[in-house]
Amino acid sequence: MTILIKNGTVVTATEFMAADVLIDGEKVVGIAAANAHPWEEGAGTVIDATDRYVMPGGVDVHTHMELPFGGTSASDTFESGTRAAAWGGTTTLIDFAVQVHGETVMDGYETWMERAAGNCAIDYGFHMIVGEVTDQALKEMDILMDEGVTSFKLFMAYPGVLYSDDGQIFRAMQKAAENGSTIMMHAENGIVIDVLREQALARGQTDPIHHSITRPPVTEAEATHRAIAYAELAGAPLYVVHMSAKEAVEEVASARGRGANVFGETCPQYLFLGWRNLREPNFEGAKYVCSTPVRNEEEGHQEALWKYLATNDLQIVSTDHCPFCMNDHPLLGTQKRLGLGDFTAIPNGLPGVEDRMRMIYHGAIGEGRLSLNRFVEVTATAPAKMFGLYPQKGTIAIGSDADILIWDPNATHTMSVEHNHMDVDYCCYEGTEVQGQIDKVLSRGRVLISDGEYHGSKGDGKYLKRGLCQYLI
Ligand code: URP
Ligand code: ZN
Ligand code: ZN
Repeated sequence: MTILIKNGTVVTATEFMAADVLIDGEKVVGIAAANAHPWEEGAGTVIDATDRYVMPGGVDVHTHMELPFGGTSASDTFESGTRAAAWGGTTTLIDFAVQVHGETVMDGYETWMERAAGNCAIDYGFHMIVGEVTDQALKEMDILMDEGVTSFKLFMAYPGVLYSDDGQIFRAMQKAAENGSTIMMHAENGIVIDVLREQALARGQTDPIHHSITRPPVTEAEATHRAIAYAELAGAPLYVVHMSAKEAVEEVASARGRGANVFGETCPQYLFLGWRNLREPNFEGAKYVCSTPVRNEEEGHQEALWKYLATNDLQIVSTDHCPFCMNDHPLLGTQKRLGLGDFTAIPNGLPGVEDRMRMIYHGAIGEGRLSLNRFVEVTATAPAKMFGLYPQKGTIAIGSDADILIWDPNATHTMSVEHNHMDVDYCCYEGTEVQGQIDKVLSRGRVLISDGEYHGSKGDGKYLKRGLCQYLI
């Protein structure tokens, strides 16, 4: 079964070219100048992409479907969350399997594999959260490498839950240096943050804004500095997740400047949201509670993050999609409102898997902050290279999976919960008018979305065994 996408402009991280794309089965098999090939004859399906960009499907390397957190669970299942991702132009995601206390790393991996199997709309892989760094956990990191899980997340935050101390972190980094994996770090000084939270509550400061005030930029910058120091000493690659403070990214930039294998991601919430959102009345600010926190927009963090994306000191925009409903969820009950009267009990996380491509295109192209090639690079190509999926994913090239986004740059879209498909009752960017609209989404040569209709089915997505980080020096 062949598909010909004709008359479009193919945009990758490096190219901007008028070209037709031929797909055979699941793969791209030809890219050629329009009218310089005979492909139209005999092509099963012809898609006319006149005035459209033909881009690689998005790769979101940071999601948490069904994550248990703070007495509840993230509201998107693998089924609803991956379908929503497809609606938003993302065709690959990497979620986090979790080793919870009292269980082994392999138990956590198997649980998450079972949750995802047969339910995903798009292709998916896993990172592993190591919740307890023990001798057995270190051995199991090696076993997971053979399963295609080549990156391990550790937490310097959440003492008593997922927190690892410095010795545990260093031992896991030594293991990563030995087996070639990447350490992903939630870099916040959780011990100091816990003191600040307790003191705020004792003063009666219970509103959502105090979530950010008690996690000041220095707690992110200090943890980032420490994680980089240990990673350099151990000789392990380090990828710092969900970065929001400019002072923290300065640490990544400085490590990269001396040639260290240190990388960083940010997320749309840090590029667009701030304290004005956390201060929304009637507890609406709880919608934006996530960690690291959204920052005070008057301190220049957003501008700095965009600049660091442009200069490649930050390499990736992922979502950290971890949705909780504001009101009762039909199955999960009260979610964000668990923290009414105590900001420390608000489940941490917000929705975004469906919003990322549109919001980053808006900021990059609509507001002129990044080039179109760089948009593709930070949303698709770099995530695929960082986590060992390139060139199968993240580009349009002969032999790549036919994961393709057909994008109408002349249309507009209004961000709204009304248009979204995530299993959550709000949109962080409600009412924002963005330039660009998604016309079609193809996943391994199958048309999943076309002109506002979903044509996929549960279980279309395959598990991806990943290779090593492709950026190491
Ligand atoms: O607030 C967040 N980020 N929730 C998800 C868990 C994590 O730390 O990534
Ligand atoms: Zn985290
Ligand atoms: Zn996360």
